[in-house]
Amino acid sequence: MNSSSVPTETKPKAFDIDRIRAQFPVLHQEVNGQQLVYFDNAATTQKPKVVLDALTDYYQTMNANIHRGVHTLADRATAAFEATRESIRGFINAGEKEEIIFTKGTTDGINLVASSWGRANLQKGDEVIISTLEHHSNIVPWQIICEEKGAVIKVIPVDDNGDLIIEEFNKLLSPKTRLVSVVQVSNALGTINPVKEIIEKAHNAGALVVVDGAQSSSHLTIDVQALDCDFFVFSGHKMYGPTGTGIVYGKRRLLEVMPPYQGGGEMIKEVTFEKTTFNEIPYKFEAGTPNIADIVGLKFAVDFINSLGKENIIAHEEMLLDYAHEKLSSIPGLRFIGTARNKAGVVSFVIEGIHHFDIGMMLDAKGIAIRTGHHCTQPLMARFGIDGTARASFSVYNTTEEIDRLAESLQGIVKMMS
Ligand SMILES: Cc1ncc(COP(=O)(O)O)c(C=O)c1O
Repeated sequence: MNSSSVPTETKPKAFDIDRIRAQFPVLHQEVNGQQLVYFDNAATTQKPKVVLDALTDYYQTMNANIHRGVHTLADRATAAFEATRESIRGFINAGEKEEIIFTKGTTDGINLVASSWGRANLQKGDEVIISTLEHHSNIVPWQIICEEKGAVIKVIPVDDNGDLIIEEFNKLLSPKTRLVSVVQVSNALGTINPVKEIIEKAHNAGALVVVDGAQSSSHLTIDVQALDCDFFVFSGHKMYGPTGTGIVYGKRRLLEVMPPYQGGGEMIKEVTFEKTTFNEIPYKFEAGTPNIADIVGLKFAVDFINSLGKENIIAHEEMLLDYAHEKLSSIPGLRFIGTARNKAGVVSFVIEGIHHFDIGMMLDAKGIAIRTGHHCTQPLMARFGIDGTARASFSVYNTTEEIDRLAESLQGIVKMMS
């Protein structure tokens, strides 16, 4: 069937980039005398007006502590907070909202799983598999707990394109493997990992799987039940939500038997000086007053993504990625780091003779924000024999014109430095 015969209602909605950009006030400013181009989305995305308004509205109309209050504001705040839990449940298709735990971000979430599940389950000689692509936040928490318990970390290598070498993963799996923790989309290279295949193989070997979804949650469609992952951890601030928000999804049967991560208010049923009994999930893992306002705001970020449609977002970002690869490949001396078969909207590169830090500074002088350095993936940089890259990462509000500006600016920088 050609596109003209597709019934109108099944055609993807037009992606109205001007309307989308109009919803992000921060984009409409000059930086160093030039219109801002924001290409640091893998670090954190900008926030649409609905999210900003939700924060103000929360503080102006319902600010109160949640769950235990008997007054009207406490009820309102609790309802708004719990509405985000249900919204996140739907967003990743978890079976129950009790499987959604709020955290500060992905780092906090992986630490929760490593401390709680790891302390209760890992023993001397057990193995935890991670990959060369991991962010430090999916390396260090496992190192800490493995060292404490005498467990061993094994690492799936990557090939020169930045693809995981799955045959090596197959070899690493053994009856000693207790857990596999892998990133779904690499923040440094953009590689999209075959997590479903990894999960199936790990389960066949009797191991649990944690998926680091920090970079995938806003760029791919997530269905934790279809993936069958045991834990899925991500950050609200990388998907148009406020900073200081993150989520751990965990299967109910695992969460119920895991010990608490932190002790304090909210996570208890009853406390005496002799003994404390713990609350039900998810509250058992949410000690103290949570980041109420920002979590309330996160629901509006999910609504924003849903209003655009994930399939439209994916198509737009794939278009930008292809366009950027084409445009940047003509820059003399530029080498892409990360040319995986399956990639999300991240372009990492080095330019011969120019330090990535200098590239970042010179682009900033032209109003273009990119990230430079090791991207919290030092072992991955070492694998490629470099200490860092320049990285442009794309989002719904980016345009091909902005990529043209990046390419022209890089041309100018190369010319000036040669
Ligand atoms: C793949 C990946 N994992 C984990 C993190 C840590 O996320 P956060 O800083 O929100 O805790 C990041 C942040 O860049 C990331 O890209």
